[in-house]
Amino acid sequence: MSIKIITIIGARPQFIKAAPVSNAFRNGESILEIVIHTGQHYDSNMSNVFFEELDMNLPEYNLNVGSGNHGEQTGEMLKKIEPILIDENPDMVLVYGDTNSTLAGSLCASKLHIPVVHIEAGLRSFNKNMPEEINRILTDHISSVLFCPTKLAVKNLINEGIVKNVVFTGDVMYDTALQFAEKSKVKSSILITNYLKEKNYYLVTLHRAENTDCKEILENILSELNKLAKSSKVIFPIHPRTKKMISKFKLENLLSDITVFEPIGFLDMVALEINAKCIITDSGGIQKEAYFHKVPCITLRAETEWQETVSHGWNYLIPPTGITKLQNYIDKLMQSEKSEIEDYGDGQASKKIVEAINYFFK
Ligand code: UD1
Repeated sequence: MSIKIITIIGARPQFIKAAPVSNAFRNGESILEIVIHTGQHYDSNMSNVFFEELDMNLPEYNLNVGSGNHGEQTGEMLKKIEPILIDENPDMVLVYGDTNSTLAGSLCASKLHIPVVHIEAGLRSFNKNMPEEINRILTDHISSVLFCPTKLAVKNLINEGIVKNVVFTGDVMYDTALQFAEKSKVKSSILITNYLKEKNYYLVTLHRAENTDCKEILENILSELNKLAKSSKVIFPIHPRTKKMISKFKLENLLSDITVFEPIGFLDMVALEINAKCIITDSGGIQKEAYFHKVPCITLRAETEWQETVSHGWNYLIPPTGITKLQNYIDKLMQSEKSEIEDYGDGQASKKIVEAINYFFK
């Protein structure tokens, strides 16, 4: 008899994390996976394109929850997930990362006494002002099996008294990075169509509520990026949240020298990452992707869940409130000594996860 899993995803980074695991499920015979997409991300370039490019099956359910305040968005998800879980009666519910979709999925399952499996468990920023920190702490504490991407994540769980069924697997995002780097080289023409030369531009992403939702902070970041753009190309695929806030605060003039794109697909993003001279971001995933492709990264945050990238010299944190003279930080980072990080595994995290699920649930 096969194990029936319901996977709950909804935001862009979760599609990227789920891709290698869902593909590994499909390649085996012991697991039947049914996917619920909450609809947290709904624009085609924030959602559909990832299913196409990452060779994923389309979700069996789409809840079309869309945007809203945290309570409204999470509540709407809970309401819509519950009847599906009751009807499908799976052996376990699988969630990824730290978004509102993660919390809604894990909470709904645990109330129905369905075991929760959390991939990317144990990460902590120790900043409870971030919605993601609340989502991951709560999810970890109601999960039955916890797959950790790093050894530090295992340690964080131990510190909170979570020791049972904790498995260190390495990072599923590394699996994705290895599996799709070649495909990106063949399929993406974003460099050519935009006249971009290798190691000749900065790549920027920005979407964290802490950075986008306060006018002074957002203005400060954009002015620094604009200064940078006077001497080198700055490429900025813009997240819908950031676009909305730039327009709300009337900061469009600060984008004058920056090359702004609408959100782009995964293969184009990988091509831009690999060929950037430096990445400037506030994304958790992109900090690591920068390292996977051996590109130095400036992270516009006061803390990171991916400490290894900092201690091994690849990542430099700048709290956005204190960002001045970005160029100086970049120069220092480019020259700093850098070493390999072993924690993220060997690109086989998804295989280990499938083996462990078979072990726990057969
Ligand atoms: C969410 C996650 C964050 C993750 C990020 C990746 C939470 C609390 N946050 O943040 O951890 O890093 O996804 O992108 O779950 N919007 C659109 N179209 C879309 C999606 C969003 O226009 O397809 C706009 C809406 O105006 C919305 C805003 O973006 O209000 C924010 O979207 P939301 O999903 O709430 O949060 P993210 O900032 O994307």
